[in-house]
Amino acid sequence: MELRKQKLYKAVLLFIPLAFCYACNNSNRLPDRVTFTEHIAPLFYKHCTVCHRPTGMSHIELVNYNEAKNYASAIAYVVKERLMPPWPADPHYTEFSEQRLLTEHEIKLIEKWAADGAPEGAKDKMPPEPEYPAGSAIGTPDLRLPLQPFFLKANSSDRFLLVKVPFELPRDTYAAVVEFVPGPHNVVHHVNGDMVKYDFDKKKDVFEGQRVSDMVNDTNIIDAFKKLGLPNDDGTYPVLEKSVVNYLPGVYAQRYPGGIGGFFLPRKGAFLLNDMHYGFTRDEDLTDSSYINVFFTKTPPERIVQEFQLGTVGISPVVPDLVIPPNTIKKVHSSYVVPMDISVLTVNPHMHLLGKSFKAYAVKPDGDTIRLISIPRWDFNWQYFYTFKKMVKIPKGSTITAEGVYDNTKNNLLNPYSPPRLVRDNNGSMKATDEMFQFIISYLPYKEGDEQVSLEVPQKPH
Ligand code: HEC
Repeated sequence: MELRKQKLYKAVLLFIPLAFCYACNNSNRLPDRVTFTEHIAPLFYKHCTVCHRPTGMSHIELVNYNEAKNYASAIAYVVKERLMPPWPADPHYTEFSEQRLLTEHEIKLIEKWAADGAPEGAKDKMPPEPEYPAGSAIGTPDLRLPLQPFFLKANSSDRFLLVKVPFELPRDTYAAVVEFVPGPHNVVHHVNGDMVKYDFDKKKDVFEGQRVSDMVNDTNIIDAFKKLGLPNDDGTYPVLEKSVVNYLPGVYAQRYPGGIGGFFLPRKGAFLLNDMHYGFTRDEDLTDSSYINVFFTKTPPERIVQEFQLGTVGISPVVPDLVIPPNTIKKVHSSYVVPMDISVLTVNPHMHLLGKSFKAYAVKPDGDTIRLISIPRWDFNWQYFYTFKKMVKIPKGSTITAEGVYDNTKNNLLNPYSPPRLVRDNNGSMKATDEMFQFIISYLPYKEGDEQVSLEVPQKPH
């Protein structure tokens, strides 16, 4: 009797979790009929159309049924392989703010929709299309500064430019964020931009000089600066504020919540895109017309974001040297001991075409490891500035280590050379056919309670 009771008890105990599990499976069950209007459009509007719309960065439009249905099987493939939405960082290692990931259930929905012949469904179930502010991924700018249109010949390869974008304002103010918006041809590969801050009396005309200098022809940087009319009227140089506007495909201009970030914007100044990189062009000549959006704020920043980088031209060397013989897989690393407590905001791993994987972490003086980022399958096209959900404290004396693996074999489909050739770093050359190994960290000096500060601000307009 006693035994039977026990058995019954056990059976009930077993049954309860099973019942729960059944319920949970049930709520996750796929609908018998998956349709575009009811199930797929809401999902695309949430995860895809920020890039896949008429004025988005991709040529493929997923806004309407008629366009989307043609891509159904390609879509099923890219979501299953987790190639789209593009998010190379491993979410099981570390999670970031605004990470672009589909749930297993969402992937299954898309697969079923494609497998069933991509049905449209009832038209009245179609959700309203999200609104995207024109010409910006983050809002309505206060000031728009066009770059001088730049002509690119058909089938041209990497171009590296210094670009000046001058401005004069009615009065001094502050910028909350500055956004680079690439022209509609999507040939801009990346941009790193600083700001030149003029003392009002020292520069009569910020608009004098050329707007663009080609870094191949103007090898001497001082000559290039003169051509661009950068010096003050008396020949001295104005102050440069580093890294105020950056762009990589798919990256939104970085904003932080309350009091963090932003900078002083003088009446007279110029954005200096000190490394504007155009990638390869296709079969036709084109003229790029990118521009810069400035979002003002009345309040000065309370805490100014700072930056350091490990690796190539950074504060710690690449070990061993970044020289990658043909037909080899090469591992390198770079380590740096932080001299004070810091609060990390974002991390940005950087490698070029031979990159295979990337990992970074910090080891505290007590031996504990703080995970920073892991990218198991390096993707040259998607090099984000990854922002943590909450600031990550790295205590004084911790060692930050970044590890990279390079694949210089013919198995690497992006290998720029066939057959493979020796590839190495080249004084910080950004050319895609030279290599780089960098880990860029933006941070604040640590303040009590930083670990609790959420960095999640809506970056996307929906
Ligand atoms: C951050 C921008 C971005 C997001 C978000 C995004 N894509 Fe893409 N996608 C691209 C770009 C860029 C390409 C390259 C093709 C091009 O330039 O048109 C691409 C390519 C594709 C392709 C073609 C792949 C091939 O090999 O031809 C498909 C299919 C696709 N995306 C589906 C999706 C789906 C489905 C989603 C959402 C679940 C999504 N994408 C989210 C930017 C994005």
